[in-house]
Amino acid sequence: MQLTMIGTGYVGLVSGVCFSDFGHDVACVDKLPEKINAMQHGEVPIYEPGLDDMMVKNIANGRLQFTLDLAKAVGAAEAVFIAVGTPTRRGDGHADLTYVYDAARDIARALKGYTVVVTKSTVPVGTNREVERVIHAENPDADFDVCSNPEFLREGAAIEDFMRPDRVVVGIENDRAKDVMARIYRPLALREAPIVYTDLESAEMIKYAANAFLATKITFINEIANLCEKVGADIKSVSKGMGMDNRIGNKFLHAGPGYGGSCFPKDTKALERIGQDHASPIKIIETVIAINDERKRQMADKIMYLCDDKVKGKRIAVLGVTFKPNTDDMRESPSLTIVPALVGAGAVVHVVDPQGRKEGEELLPAVTWDDDPYEAASGADAIVVLTEWNEFRALDLMRLARVMKTPKMADLRNIYDPVEAKEAGFDYVSVGR
Ligand code: UGA
Repeated sequence: MQLTMIGTGYVGLVSGVCFSDFGHDVACVDKLPEKINAMQHGEVPIYEPGLDDMMVKNIANGRLQFTLDLAKAVGAAEAVFIAVGTPTRRGDGHADLTYVYDAARDIARALKGYTVVVTKSTVPVGTNREVERVIHAENPDADFDVCSNPEFLREGAAIEDFMRPDRVVVGIENDRAKDVMARIYRPLALREAPIVYTDLESAEMIKYAANAFLATKITFINEIANLCEKVGADIKSVSKGMGMDNRIGNKFLHAGPGYGGSCFPKDTKALERIGQDHASPIKIIETVIAINDERKRQMADKIMYLCDDKVKGKRIAVLGVTFKPNTDDMRESPSLTIVPALVGAGAVVHVVDPQGRKEGEELLPAVTWDDDPYEAASGADAIVVLTEWNEFRALDLMRLARVMKTPKMADLRNIYDPVEAKEAGFDYVSVGR
């Protein structure tokens, strides 16, 4: 099939590359000439394990191309995917749909023959109907259907999530569009991935409800972790014991410094606004947002407390600044609250991150970037584990303690065993135990 992706951000690029790997002919469209040129030469603009190999392979076999020519790519396609950004609008927390509707107008003018226009971007309920209206207004003769096909991939595991999804959600209005979508996802259906066909509004709602629920699950376990610290329970055992109940499930029960990233913060805020606008406020989500914001500040306080509330002039090594491992993404990362709080209190911060430096240098200007954890820890008064990169999971704690001025560790991802850390000489604090 001929498919076109509009937008080569995380979702657009990964989906486009994976669709080409299914055997479809995919054209990925973007407006940035330099980005298109680099991708044509196999350069991946983001860090995502496995994406570069798959991209180079499918460019070489002619199934994947990158182009600035939206009209040509849309005219040739059986289905066009809108995968542009829907950032939080300044001031009011709504999802900004400017790029979605701009794309819809561009697509409308270029449509040739029957085409399904599929929204992959995360969009509020009602957006697909508006996309339909915008296209019809721009080109009343166009022969098209709209489809809502939200994406559930996680950064860092994007290819695996796309290729082996728990489910594919398809919101459509008729069998003609359903047939096109079924053919697109046939390779996944053959692998028995469940495909949920539903209406447009439900598909849009599934995406927000799923992300908001996962953000709630994390926030819940973070609150339980706080209580564990007070009553002497161990959050790791609590999460394990809870997660073994199939109705709860063991995923997304890891206590930490608060959720970040390009999705949960943005989508919870958008859902909060959607609820308020429809006089149906989702109070649990309003609370989750407030708790998560507060949590990042609490984590900075925890580190200061470990340093006897005196961090002025002290050297603090921070391991990991991306919002999670296996990504170079810094968006809404807890580090963006915690590190400036330490710097603001006068600490001398040294940072190590396997992929975060490129984005992080601008966002965290007042820190020193080191290449390895022992170098960052050398002469340090405290070390903080902020992101659980594999590279940080098996450090030689004895050696680490030896190179530090005072061996203090705040392990905000619970990757070390408190007993081992104490045996290595660390004054050790973690989360929820
Ligand atoms: C999230 C969802 O998991 C995807 O299903 C969804 O497609 C995506 O948003 C999106 O809407 O595009 P992502 O933002 O890549 O994916 O990252 P997650 O793995 O969900 O992690 C989000 C945050 O929660 C991270 O800061 C992570 O450290 C934190 N987290 C996650 C925890 O603190 N504890 C956990 O147990 C799990």
